[in-house]
This record gives sequence, C-alpha cells and structure tokens, in this order.
Amino acid sequence: DAYDAGDHESFMHKEMSEQPTTARRVLSGRLDERFGTGHLGGLNLDPRDLRAIRRVKILGCGSAFYVGQMGATLLEELARVPADAEAASEFRYRNPIIEPETLYVAVSQSGETIDTLLAVQEIRRKGGRVIGLVNVVGSAIAREVDGGIYLHAGPEVAVASTKALTNMFLAFAMLAIQLGRVRDLSIADGRRLIAALNALPEQIEQVLATEDALAETARRLAGAESLFFVGRVRGYPVAREGAQKFKEISYRHAEAYQTSELKHGPLALVSPEVPTVAIVPDDELVERNVGALHEIDARGGPLVVVTHENVSVGDLDCERIVVPKSERELDPILLTIPLQLLAYHAALELGHDIDKPRNLAKSVTVE
Ligand code: G6P
Repeated sequence: DAYDAGDHESFMHKEMSEQPTTARRVLSGRLDERFGTGHLGGLNLDPRDLRAIRRVKILGCGSAFYVGQMGATLLEELARVPADAEAASEFRYRNPIIEPETLYVAVSQSGETIDTLLAVQEIRRKGGRVIGLVNVVGSAIAREVDGGIYLHAGPEVAVASTKALTNMFLAFAMLAIQLGRVRDLSIADGRRLIAALNALPEQIEQVLATEDALAETARRLAGAESLFFVGRVRGYPVAREGAQKFKEISYRHAEAYQTSELKHGPLALVSPEVPTVAIVPDDELVERNVGALHEIDARGGPLVVVTHENVSVGDLDCERIVVPKSERELDPILLTIPLQLLAYHAALELGHDIDKPRNLAKSVTVE
C-alpha cells in the first residue's frame, strides 16, 4: 500500500516526527474546556459507573506496560483512585482476584498481543469490566473489551513504539481527568490540565527540534556497553521506557532503576564506563534527585540529565537535556520524547536495523 517511510530513513523516524500531529488527533473532540472534563464516549461508562470504581488495574506488555505505569500515577494523582499496572504476560498465571468495583484497562498498540488478549478474556470470564486503550481499530482486543479509547495514532510500523505510546499517555490523562471530575478533581484543576494537554503537541515539536543535539549525546552513549536509566515516582516509568527503547534497538545493556534505590545496590556498578541517564523533572523531588546524582558523579559515572530549564544541578558534572515544562502530572510524556531520539541515534550510530531489531516482533501473537 501507499504507507512508506517517505523522506525519512526509517519508519521509527517518521513515526517520531508525526507525534505533534497524532497527539492533536487523539485529543481532538474529547475535551470539554468549559467544565474541565473529558468526553470519552467510547468508555460506555456513565458518571455513576465512574463513581463506583474503587480501583484501576492496568495491563499491557513492553512499552504498553511502562506507559501503563505512567497512567497509574496519573489516575492516582488526578482521580485519587488506587491504580497500578502489571505485565499482562504475568497477570493470568497468578490466579488474579477479579473485583467488580475494579476498572481493568488493557493497553495495546496492535490490539493483537496474545498475552494482553488472554488477560482480557480471563478478566471477563470472571465478571470483571475491561476497557481498552488500543490503536488498531477492530483488532482482537478492541473487539473483546467493554469499551475504550481508540488512540488514533495511525499505522505504526517500527517495532519500537513511539507515536502510539505518546497517545496512550494522552488517553490516560483524559481518562484520569474524566474520572477525577466525577469524584474529587476541581473544575479549576480540570481546566488547568486541559490547557496543558492542548499545549503538549507544540511542546513535543519543540523537543523534536532538538534532534541534532540529542544525536550527538546518543553517539557518545552508543559507545557504552552498559547504561543506567534512573528516575523516581513520575520519572521512574519514563526511565523504564527509556531503557527499554535503548536496549531494543541499540542492543546495549540498559537497566532502569529508581534513583532512590541506587544506594541500595546498583551504585556498585557505577564507573566511568557506565553512564547514567537521569530523569530530573522540576518537581517536589528535585533536590533529592540532584543529591543522588552527586553520588554517581563522585564515582566518575558520566551523567546525562533530562530535566527542565529551572532545575539547578549546582556543580554536578553532567550533560543537560532540557525539555519544555508542562503541568507536573503531564511532564512524563515530554521527558520520554528525548529518550526515543537517544535510542534512535545510538542505534543509527551502531548501524542496526532500526525498524526491525533482532529477535523482536512488532506484535507477539503467539504465547
Ligand atoms: C512487542 C513489541 C513491543 C511492544 C509490545 C506490546 O513486544 O516488540 O515494542 O511494546 O509488543 O505491543 P502492543 O501492540 O500490545 O502495544
């Protein structure tokens, strides 16, 4: 068909560059600025159903799992409902307790990942209610769920998910706002977040415009056999997704850790040969984060800090990657975009097949 990479050297590059447009598309028509809420008709949940939810359990595999962790944090912060994400590939093997007042959320770009599909079927068999955050219309998971949010990212060809992942995050944000607004979220907070959501596509564009500088950093990182990605709370799933992308396409060993856990083990591995990419947003943890990075610096560990303009790193010896500031709840997605470009340019430097990394498939449809 007519879908090709056009002027881009790979589908991944094309798909990354589409993000401002695809992000606008997933938000389009789904936000109510006047009442500071979401308009997610496909959920098939009325306000009474939404108020009855006592817990949210998110299921996905790979990047969809990590963005699910970002989504869980958004739901807890905005809707004040306990939420967590779990690898769909593990879920049904531990005889999970299916609760009627839990909302289950299956996250999948393809809608065909067998582990996620079987988790959905197990939940429904036991009477649970599942919604889908799915990109491919009419896919197996989209057909199985009780309702959901289509991601409208368009076809995604590269194994490493970029534009679909971004739209998963935005869908979680809209879900959290809509759920929050029938519970405890104020109209002012709803409006504040909607304004920030609407500003994101242009901010994503600003991050993409820094590609040349990111490529230079990536070429340096490509030389390392092993790297750490660290972050905490909202930044931790960002670090996990960053490490995932990096290992998927550069084949370097990239390991994600909570910054707070460094001192409980991984610090033993830090050395001039092992760089760390640290997620340091301008938030309530910034001082503690910067403090932990000094521990890395003191051991000669090279540091790349993905951060905001206002964050002062003091005399820390590091390379700074600055992203535009959003509302703190929405910052994770802007912190994720440069990590896509770091992985991409590291893989390019190493001469790998970016769209089809070895041993991996775009969607895993057999167990
Ligand atoms: C595969 C891909 C990953 C992807 C995961 C989930 O393992 O290699 O990049 O994140 O499947 O795919 P899905 O289509 O369910 O989002």
